[in-house]
Parts: sequence; structure tokens; C-alpha cells
Amino acid sequence: MKNVKRAAALALCGLLVLGSLFGCSASATDGLQIIRIGHNQSTNHPTHTGLLAFEEYVEGELGDKYDIQIFPSELLGSQNEMVQLTQTGAITFCVASNSLLETFSDNYTLFNLPYLFASPEAYHASMDDPAIVDPIFESTMQAGFEAVTWLDAGTRNFYTINTPIETPADLRGLKIRVQQSPTNVRMMELLGGSATPMGFGDVYTALQSQMLDGAENNELALTDNGHGDVCKYYSYTMHQMIPDILIGNLDFMESLSEEERAIFDEGFQILNQTQRDAWETAVEEAKNTAENEQGVTFLYPDITPFQEAVAPMHQEMLENYPDLAPIYELIQAHNAEYPADSQ
Ligand code: GCU
Repeated sequence: MKNVKRAAALALCGLLVLGSLFGCSASATDGLQIIRIGHNQSTNHPTHTGLLAFEEYVEGELGDKYDIQIFPSELLGSQNEMVQLTQTGAITFCVASNSLLETFSDNYTLFNLPYLFASPEAYHASMDDPAIVDPIFESTMQAGFEAVTWLDAGTRNFYTINTPIETPADLRGLKIRVQQSPTNVRMMELLGGSATPMGFGDVYTALQSQMLDGAENNELALTDNGHGDVCKYYSYTMHQMIPDILIGNLDFMESLSEEERAIFDEGFQILNQTQRDAWETAVEEAKNTAENEQGVTFLYPDITPFQEAVAPMHQEMLENYPDLAPIYELIQAHNAEYPADSQ
């Protein structure tokens, strides 16, 4: 089934790439320009709900010009593939984890740092602060795409097939899937586990065949992606809050008139708000299902030893990317306003 899906995706991508060779990032049929948006979540996920609200709003305003089509579940390829398709203009938008964008612009490294944000409130306040996100979002323009809004992806925690993670020592020797970014590999190195970078869509099979001992993600991965069918311990290490980012092909974004751009910008706000409003309930439901139907045990370890193990990464990042220091300081101000116990 997965192979059939992948073959269909590749065939579609081939067609899209051909389309882009003829210079259309949003392809035209019946006088309407098709805007393709790809993401890797299911149709139950808050991101899909948010994108449907975006589609409804933009088509309500500009439906005589654009036809927005949303492709969930990696139908257009993995996130890495979708970012490249967005760069070339074969598709118009995709949702990518901030983790992956680090390989397109160093600036994105900042939001991938473990224990960067003191609390979800500090994370939200930082991501809503233009002085923090604008310089980062603008930095991928040279790579051919524009980051237009962020989406909540909650807090990342470790989960394993059969090893309860209470301290970093429990990770020792375990093969843990991480997202494909140098920061995540370094984080696992410091925590003592063996980092196995791979695309999200391959994780379930790798867990099921015990090629992996575990992974790390928000609670929705347990239910929406079935990881809780295999992994029975989910440990609140709260090591990262990594946003997802909607990116748009730069040529397309620049082709919009001022009026159209204002409508798209309003649509991005609607997407952001709808997705965030749906997030908390989705997490509560996922936890409930994981606990009661999948038999997942939730653990609440002391996070101090995890924080201490990865603390050198903050200094390393500031040394490697001194330009990010002022932005890092702005985040510390939000952390002071919303400390860990504000949760
Ligand atoms: C989350 C995130 C996705 C990402 C995934 C992953 O689900 O929302 O954008 O792809 O984690 O771990 O790869």
C-alpha cells in the first residue's frame, strides 16, 4: 500500500515538475490557477483543519482566480521532497518542520535547540513576536521560498517500544528516530542514545520491525500515526518545541498583487489561529486514546538531567551563529515572562 502511495506520489511529482518547467508554480486549468499545498499529516490533524479554513477564506475572496488543492499524508512526497518541490515551483506551498529548514538556512537552527523555550506560553509569545520570527523567516528567500506562518507542533517527548525513559541513562544504546537535522543528531549524541534520522512517513514501519527502539514527537504521533500501537512508554522529557512552518514558492508570492497578498496574509492568519485553536483538544484526545485504547503509559520524569545534558548546545549555537544572539536574548525575555511553572 505504502509503495503504491509512493509510486502515485512520484508520478504526480513528475507531472508537477514538468509543469514547473513551463514556468507555472500555480498551474492553470479552466482559467483558474491551481495552488497545490502539501503536508504530511492526516486529515484529522489540526494542520489539515487549519488549511481547510485557509482554502475557504482565500477561495471566498479570490475563487474566480485560484483553485486551492490540499494534499495530506505525504501524497506529494516526504517533507524534504515537498520543500524541494516548493523551491522549484512544482507545488506552491508545503508545511515543513522547522527542523528540516535548518539545512536551507542556518538561522532555523535556533528554534530547533533543545529546551529553548521555558514553557508553551513562552514558545507561543516568541513565535508571535515579529522581532524574533521575521529575520528567520526572511532568511530562506535566497533558497527560493518564503516562510509565511508558523503552526503549533506541541512539545516533543521520547517514546519507546518497551524501555521506560526516566533519565538520560535510559536512552543509552537505544536507536531513536530523529528528524533529519544536525541539531537533532547532536542532541541525541549528548543524551547518549543512537540517533537514527529518517522521514516521518517511514517511522511506523521502522518501529514495527524493531529497527528502532523508539522515537520522539508530540502526542499526536501515537494515535494519528499509530506509533502508540507499537510504543508503550511515552515520557514527558519536553526536550523541544519545534514549530511547523508554511512555506510558499517565492516566485508565486512575488507574483501576487498588493490586494491579493493582503488576502493571502489574512488567510495565513486564519490558518495559524484555526490550527492553534484545534491543537489543545487534539492533544487531550490523543492522550486519552493512547492511554485507554493503545495501552500507552505516560511518564513524568525530572527533566533537569536532560536539560543539563544538552545545555552545551546553547553555547555552541551562539558561538557558531553569533548573529542569532540578539534573537536568542529576545526569547529569554519571553522565558522570563512565562517561566516553566506558568504552564
Ligand atoms: C511533527 C511535525 C511534523 C514533522 C514530524 C516529524 O508531527 O508536526 O512536521 O514532520 O513531527 O517528526 O517528522
